[in-house]
Amino acid sequence: MTLLDLLTLGRESDFGSERGVSCTGELPAASDPSLVERARVARSALGNRAMVLGHHYQRDEVIEFADITGDSFKLAQSAAADSSAEYIIFCGVHFMAESADILTSPAQKVILPDLAAGCSMADMATANQVNECWKVLEEVGVADSTIPVTYMNSSAAIKSFTGKNGGTVCTSSNAKRAMNWALEQGEKILFLPDQHLGRNTAVLSLGLSLEDCVLWNPWKPMGGLTSEEIRNAKVILWRGHCSVHGRFSLDTVHEVRERIPGVQVLVHPECKYEVVSNADVVGSTEMIIRTIEAAPAGSKWAIGTELNLVSRLAKNHPDKSILFLDRTVCYCSTMNRIDLPHLVWAMESLVNGHLVNQIQVSPEVAKFSRIALERMLALP
Ligand code: 13P
Ligand code: SF4
Repeated sequence: MTLLDLLTLGRESDFGSERGVSCTGELPAASDPSLVERARVARSALGNRAMVLGHHYQRDEVIEFADITGDSFKLAQSAAADSSAEYIIFCGVHFMAESADILTSPAQKVILPDLAAGCSMADMATANQVNECWKVLEEVGVADSTIPVTYMNSSAAIKSFTGKNGGTVCTSSNAKRAMNWALEQGEKILFLPDQHLGRNTAVLSLGLSLEDCVLWNPWKPMGGLTSEEIRNAKVILWRGHCSVHGRFSLDTVHEVRERIPGVQVLVHPECKYEVVSNADVVGSTEMIIRTIEAAPAGSKWAIGTELNLVSRLAKNHPDKSILFLDRTVCYCSTMNRIDLPHLVWAMESLVNGHLVNQIQVSPEVAKFSRIALERMLALP
């Protein structure tokens, strides 16, 4: 095995998909005492030419400079609605910046301050694997009646596949509507790439049974399924998951209920089925925030989502008792790649006339991805 093989291990051998590291210039030191001031100066120099979008899982030091904060749905809507800003500085992960590029005009440039801010879940479904799966569905004779639904957390290539085959994108805030819509268009759904969001929505929101869902394993011939299993399924779930939310366990739900009488468990639908089905409230990050804002003083909450968001909620709501559901789960490491040094570097580069870390989706891929994203934005 060569060094190159080792470097690309686990990422197939698609060199074109390697994102590499980010910073082509000089990154300010995290210890630079003038960093916050530099960020303020660069932000005000950019003025209306730039819009800074921040996902709720971003660090506080970055959120402080976001013009709009939101979950992935709200940020996609915000990018689509703004046609004036020349630069969209996306503080989030790669697939979100790609979606913003697809939804904005060709004159607008989308910038991801650190190109290594990817998403391990999005990487779990590659275009080759999904094309292979579709070929099998064609052979089994069900492709014509199957509607692909892809979670926002997927590459532009997967969104393009979805758009081309009559499907839609969804996020955790509209997965129920997207799956209902898909079942009106066809008989079956191919849900990519998050098995947990797909299963939780199918069973807990749509009222399908666990037996209606089968799991497609991209590493096995025919996804590890028989033709009959594929024909009988209502939902074919891709075997992907979020490495952060997938770690919350049923044991911790039981443990926290025993330790804190009266606590309410509030989790994101990327958590496993057994966690979600034993929680009190389930929702996207935006919904989690709204739930805590509306909760009465003195209420107690154990929250199963990314740690930056839970810590911020605890800080902003000192009148409520807010704790993290599981002590062994930590930050999303790729969301955390965007820190103040990277944001300052990106903004100062733009002020100095250097466009850095632009995320550009090719016109062929963008064409059908846009169709899939616009179908989502138009969902009733
Ligand atoms: P939402 O922003 O849709 O809540 O998704 C959470 C997430 O994991 C984003 O990467
Ligand atoms: Fe991906 Fe999970 Fe991180 Fe979201 S929280 S970016 S789904 S790894």
